[in-house]
Amino acid sequence: MSSSSRNTKLLNWVDEMVVLCQPDSVVWCDGTDAEWDAMWELMLNSGTAIKLNEQKRPNSYLVRSIPADVARVEERTFICSEKEQDAGPTNNWAEPAEMHQTLNGLFSGCMKGRTLYVIPFSMGPIGSDIAQIGVELTDSPYVVTNMHIMARVGQAVLDVLGSEGDFVPCLHSVGVPLTSGEKDAPWPCNPDNRYIVHYPETREIWSFGSGYGGNALLGKKCFALRIASSMARDEGWLAEHMLILKLTNPEGEVQYIAGAFPSACGKTNLAMLTPTIPGWKVETIGDDICWMKFGEDGQLYAINPEAGFFGVAPGTSMESNANAMLSMQENTIFTNVALTDDGDVWWEGMTEQPPANLTDWKGNDWVADTLAAHPNSRFTAHAAQCPVIADEWNDPKGVPISAILMGGRRASIVPLVTEARDWNHGTFFGTIIASEMTAAAFGEIGKLRRDPMAMLPFCGYNMADYWGHWLKMGEKENAKMPKIYYVNWFRKNEAGKFIWPGFGENSRVLKWIFERCNGTADAVETAIGNMPATNGIDFSSLDLSEQDSVNLMHVDTDGWLAELAGIEDYYTTFGDHLPAELTAQVNELRSRLLASKQ
Ligand code: GTP
Ligand code: SPV
Ligand code: MN
Repeated sequence: MSSSSRNTKLLNWVDEMVVLCQPDSVVWCDGTDAEWDAMWELMLNSGTAIKLNEQKRPNSYLVRSIPADVARVEERTFICSEKEQDAGPTNNWAEPAEMHQTLNGLFSGCMKGRTLYVIPFSMGPIGSDIAQIGVELTDSPYVVTNMHIMARVGQAVLDVLGSEGDFVPCLHSVGVPLTSGEKDAPWPCNPDNRYIVHYPETREIWSFGSGYGGNALLGKKCFALRIASSMARDEGWLAEHMLILKLTNPEGEVQYIAGAFPSACGKTNLAMLTPTIPGWKVETIGDDICWMKFGEDGQLYAINPEAGFFGVAPGTSMESNANAMLSMQENTIFTNVALTDDGDVWWEGMTEQPPANLTDWKGNDWVADTLAAHPNSRFTAHAAQCPVIADEWNDPKGVPISAILMGGRRASIVPLVTEARDWNHGTFFGTIIASEMTAAAFGEIGKLRRDPMAMLPFCGYNMADYWGHWLKMGEKENAKMPKIYYVNWFRKNEAGKFIWPGFGENSRVLKWIFERCNGTADAVETAIGNMPATNGIDFSSLDLSEQDSVNLMHVDTDGWLAELAGIEDYYTTFGDHLPAELTAQVNELRSRLLASKQ
């Protein structure tokens, strides 16, 4: 199909990239069902995909990557700003001109024998003031089908773009040309030559060599977080790694809550939670990314820029997250999960007992005591298929945010919930998030690392400048900033078991937060922040020992004092980019902790 766009910037860029990449053909994507079917036809023929049982999982497919390409590769992710200090110490930096040269070499002829797909997409409801347009060029049909679900794709986007509109160019290649006559690999990729590159100043993305998730679906982490965070700084808004949920109390009153948790730390679960407390309702707006802009009333209004979920499969079950399970009943892509004998999917934690026979995620007969699904295996499902998707999830004006949660996996020190004293204190909470690493990225699983605002892998500029931007947002005249809460579902006891049951029981914590927002719940001031008064959170019907309940809310003064030393060391790495306010926050917290010991 040829283009129906008259956007000169777009047409010129596509021409230029076609000359560089030398694909055999070019296809403009329209996001239709016919296109979806055509892509799967190609992937079935190349051995990339397996069609699942049409009765059990209508219109759904299983795709297996190769073991070298199963997660984001942070050490191959680059922020190429003109100045190194604008990328900051937490990002990999390379000189833009040099990187352009490297990439021009790699992309030159890389699509020979393949088709280049042009995917116009909108992040956010088409035409929303908060939404943005991107165009991804890719040689991967798998990317095309995932983008169909994750973003709004097709002609309507080109219509909004018009002849003069601007967009973020996103170039992606699996990085291996196909010699004529040669059979394609089921999962073509180039793991020894991966580059996930961002130019924040010119707002461009170039990704080479990987076909997986955040490396390849460029609307997601590359655009909606790394490039968007940099736009947001320039334009006075926020682009965050946050879920958005709608919480309704038994009286029908509504609050919208956003939450930042690192990768594979519970955003999807919290966004779709089934409350265990009677009369309360949670509905989903988004499960991974949140863009927030000030409304005229001074409140932050949030949209979910995505249209689907790219969710972690293992651990997801009808018990832990029924709404996720029901979202993926049809029209779903499964990547790196196990296959059952009757053409359905399975992963660790889906049922208590595994089926007798399985084909594991590598395509081999499954052997008990080995992993059937990869720990970062994922499902790609339409947000609209979620049984508890909120009516307003698609509302172009977004939803007003009352509270922001921040948390990570912390076995000790961090209590179940602490309320920030004000916006600056809450920003400080965000900067000190540390979390045990998960399989969502290559790295040492379980190792504690600092992950401020859950944005460590996703902040497109200097992290300390980003903190400065957060602080500045709170200074805006007439700003009504959300309350901020530091939460931790992952505290462990001496036996190494999670103390808090989590999942649906997290509704007990949400209830307290809701009632703090509408002014009906009490709190007690502690050295670290405001905490629920005794019995402020109802633990009574839970199977918690007296000691566990105490531990969950315990302010570990010596633990925090020791933590502060680590925070100061961390802050030092940012040199004079560190906002003075954060040093003041550390000092005030230390004084409060010392005073509380007397
Ligand atoms: P990304 O999509 O990678 O950004 O992750 P996410 O934050 O959406 O993660 P998700 O909700 O998929 O969480 C994945 C993991 O967290 C699974 O192993 C879950 O079992 C676990 N998890 C989620 N909520 C809870 C909870 O309340 N308590 C405990 N203990 N584990 C949880
Ligand atoms: C994450 O790792 O935070 C994800 C998955 O949400 S990916 O899209 O691969 O980044
Ligand atoms: Mn994520």
